[in-house]
Amino acid sequence: MKFFIDTANLAQIQEAHDLGILDGVTTNPSLMAKEGIKGEAAIMKHYEAICELVEGDVSAEVFSTDFNSIIEEGKKLAAIHPNIVVKVPMIKDGVKAIKWFTENGIRTNCTLVFSAGQAILAAKAGAAYVSPFIGRIDDSNWDGVELIAQIAQIYSIQGFKTEILAASIRNALHIVKCAESGADVCTCPLDSILGLLKHPLTDIGLAKFLEDAKKM
Ligand code: G3P
Repeated sequence: MKFFIDTANLAQIQEAHDLGILDGVTTNPSLMAKEGIKGEAAIMKHYEAICELVEGDVSAEVFSTDFNSIIEEGKKLAAIHPNIVVKVPMIKDGVKAIKWFTENGIRTNCTLVFSAGQAILAAKAGAAYVSPFIGRIDDSNWDGVELIAQIAQIYSIQGFKTEILAASIRNALHIVKCAESGADVCTCPLDSILGLLKHPLTDIGLAKFLEDAKKM
């Protein structure tokens, strides 16, 4: 399973990259706004900076919701860097746009996916990635991880090549469960990635080893 970081914060991207386990980055308008990125020039420059930091795919989301505008916006984003993947929402014009991008050699990440039916449509349109939002499904009292397993089963039976990118990850257990359920990629906040490091017995064991090391 690949690890992407779900942020537009350059310091956090650098920290995950320095850990040596980072395969890519996903962003969305909320994450870009959180970093104070405003206006087309600043947005383009910020994506360039992210692409310079990491070697893997970087998802950049369109703001448009009608077919022609999605295409124009997506073409501009894709032109920034070969690693840019155009993130398109799961709406009717979005599915049409994903198909167009696929036929024109531009890779896409279909976002805001909350059901297996939506994941089938994204795959049929040729999306490189499909992004089911695990945490938000949990928030609505359904099981987000179960959706990952369902999509993985469907894609395997049907031979779909779209990669399952588990998004809206909220903690380290989500990452483990997504790995168990067949996600190809997990995009996570830095805290959830670092949460994988933690175990109280590791801390207790290390303290004891360091204490005993003084007696050696
Ligand atoms: O990539 C989508 C993700 O950022 C959404 O996460 O925590 O806002 O549901 P969250």
